Amino acid sequence: MAFYTLKLRDDDVVEMIDQRKLPLEIIYVELKTYEGVYAAIKDMVVRGAPAIGVSAAFGLYLGAKSLISLPEVNNYETFKKKFFKIADFMFSARPTAVNLGWAVDRIKGLVETEGKNIYKNNPDLKKVVSLIRNESLKIYNEDIEINKNMGRYGAVLLKDGYTVLTHCNAGALATAGYGTALGVIRAAVSENKKISVVSDETRPFLQGARLTTWELMEDGIPVTLIADNSAGLLMRKGKINAVIVGADRIASNGDVANKIGTYQVAVLAKENDIPFYVAAPLSTIDLNIKSGDEIPIEERDINEVVSIFGKRIAPESVKALNYAFDVTPNKYVSAIITEKGILYPDYKKSIAEAFGK
Ligand code: MRU
Repeated sequence: MAFYTLKLRDDDVVEMIDQRKLPLEIIYVELKTYEGVYAAIKDMVVRGAPAIGVSAAFGLYLGAKSLISLPEVNNYETFKKKFFKIADFMFSARPTAVNLGWAVDRIKGLVETEGKNIYKNNPDLKKVVSLIRNESLKIYNEDIEINKNMGRYGAVLLKDGYTVLTHCNAGALATAGYGTALGVIRAAVSENKKISVVSDETRPFLQGARLTTWELMEDGIPVTLIADNSAGLLMRKGKINAVIVGADRIASNGDVANKIGTYQVAVLAKENDIPFYVAAPLSTIDLNIKSGDEIPIEERDINEVVSIFGKRIAPESVKALNYAFDVTPNKYVSAIITEKGILYPDYKKSIAEAFGK
């Protein structure tokens, strides 16, 4: 793959490919502050649940580093108090993807346990900051590994010759690398199966039209772009063998929040007897919620709907709605592919088992 989604450089600059500009411009932005990383998540320079989680982890490292240059931050307790404030700020960037909160909590937990001990044995805050740096890089590397494992498990579901429909972008661009839904497709292709992809355009941010098509073409995987409203026709014509999407949050009963429009695709798939698969790491599963009704759905600026690339397409002052995600009830989900294996209904049971409960 000739591009990378994001990285933390040795000189502590976070680099991200600007996903607002792809595919027409391939630009990497450089971020040196946690506020910059927060803005990049909010404005969707970086997007996709796992990529947002990794970005937040890098952002927290930049925040921790900036804190210890403040004269008043001269002991563990003051550091922790201010660091947790930064963590809460980072957490507020986007509400639906649980990976953001998962990464933030993981680092907060580490600061509270190992960080505290390290400081007790050697009262040097630089050591705590370097613990955070290492953890953020661990989260980054683990994400790529997890996606590859998910791919290996999920590839069995995609048979040679399949045409697979996907919605939004759940690829390398939505993760530290390799991808979730597109990772499963990559794994099937690497097993020499002939797979072609149909990509929904995914209005309004056009992740399908701009990102999924570009990323797959970079890898030489055949892809056909369709308008969002074409999926039903193609399914009815027998042109789609399976649907595979990613997820932003999965409830403990298997309800799946993903990009707006996913629910429609799932209903159409069931109606047409086509399997609907979700590929997501266990960090996307929120055991604290019983069903999809509890998942907060992000509402974004209506300018994304009434304009395209800054050009107004709807009448001035028209009312508009811009929900960024929807929830697909578990009855539409044929299987959930994770790094620990494929989960099938009853999801309450199979999800609990995947977490060893
Ligand atoms: O608004 P986005 O682009 O962050 O939404 C992304 C999605 O809905 C993806 O399908 C999801 O995060 C899974 S990414 C592996």
